Amino acid sequence: MRVANPSLAGRLSQYTGVGALRESRLPSPWPGPPARPVGDPLLGVRERWYMLGTSDLVGDDPVPVRALGEDLVLWRDGEGHPRLMADHCPHRGARLSIGDVVDGQLQCWYHHWRFDAGGQCMSVPSQGGACSLAARTRVEVAYPVEEQAGYLWAWMGTDSPAPLALPEEFTDPRWSTFPETVAWSANWMLGLENLVDLMHAPFLHARSITLKGGITDDRVLVTDHDDGFEVTRKNQSGVNFDWIDVHLGALPHVRLDIPLPPSAGPGPDLRIIGFLLPRDNDETLVHFPRFREVSGGERLIWRSLYRLRLRGTHLHVLNQDKVMLESMRTVEESRRDEHLAQADRPVIHLRRMLEPVFAAQRERFGLPAETPTKNVDD
Ligand code: FES
Ligand SMILES: [Fe+2]
Repeated sequence: MRVANPSLAGRLSQYTGVGALRESRLPSPWPGPPARPVGDPLLGVRERWYMLGTSDLVGDDPVPVRALGEDLVLWRDGEGHPRLMADHCPHRGARLSIGDVVDGQLQCWYHHWRFDAGGQCMSVPSQGGACSLAARTRVEVAYPVEEQAGYLWAWMGTDSPAPLALPEEFTDPRWSTFPETVAWSANWMLGLENLVDLMHAPFLHARSITLKGGITDDRVLVTDHDDGFEVTRKNQSGVNFDWIDVHLGALPHVRLDIPLPPSAGPGPDLRIIGFLLPRDNDETLVHFPRFREVSGGERLIWRSLYRLRLRGTHLHVLNQDKVMLESMRTVEESRRDEHLAQADRPVIHLRRMLEPVFAAQRERFGLPAETPTKNVDD
């Protein structure tokens, strides 16, 4: 903690007031309450693993994280293990994420109450430290976090977590990877519907170097599997964004391939594994780690080209999705006068698959039911 053992920058900021480090950790302003009640499926499906970000998301200091409409604090305990709990001090409700980690415990900045890795209050300094008040006080909400393959994964549920089984690309050394994360001011369902919608690529991304090729008049096919479904195109494969594999189980994610032009260096298609982290009804963090199965000199070329040139191109394409989804923003707004076509069959399929999941979650949280998914208009 900086007060107990201040760094040079910390000492300077104490004396000059310039660049005060703690203040630099304050979001400005704090986000308001979520637009929907916590537990509403449009704020995210519960009892699932979510990618929070790369391991360096949290270091010595706690950080605020909004996930599935909840304000949480992410911090590392005395052994460096990541912890995720309510960003709300049970004393008077101050944000714990602007506190400090002291002797492996999370200390609220306001009156220095301290909490252990499980959220149990260990000390109320104004009452001498450990006391009966401390013993009967705890941070009520905590979610399990795993650190694997350089990423942090949170189980956003209260049942015991399902085993965290990462896609093989994260652990198989044949794949060379880059993390990538963007924020979209749109609901997570719009993000997922955009991903299963193969037919947007040749239109929205018509001027990109990777997604401009092929025919624009095609039918799409949907095939179920144990954990979700695949979408393919009837008359085209390997030319554009022509395939996506959707997983809706314990670790929701999508897997897709993007053909790369010769200017991207030797090697097979680019593989993207996408994870959506809902933050609010109109805020989603989109994690899109990129993978390419290349080794030796090819890997060196690929990694150099990605950093120098391709990353910018990919972010440009992702930004086109961002612009479109932010123009739609929420599920309520986007479906207000919706007319679906054959190419939207995967969107309908997705909604149908999630309907019972949403219904069960609404019931569990005591929320009213919703109208069922409509059919294709053609
Ligand atoms: S509000 Fe956290 S210690 Fe007082
Ligand atoms: Fe797109």
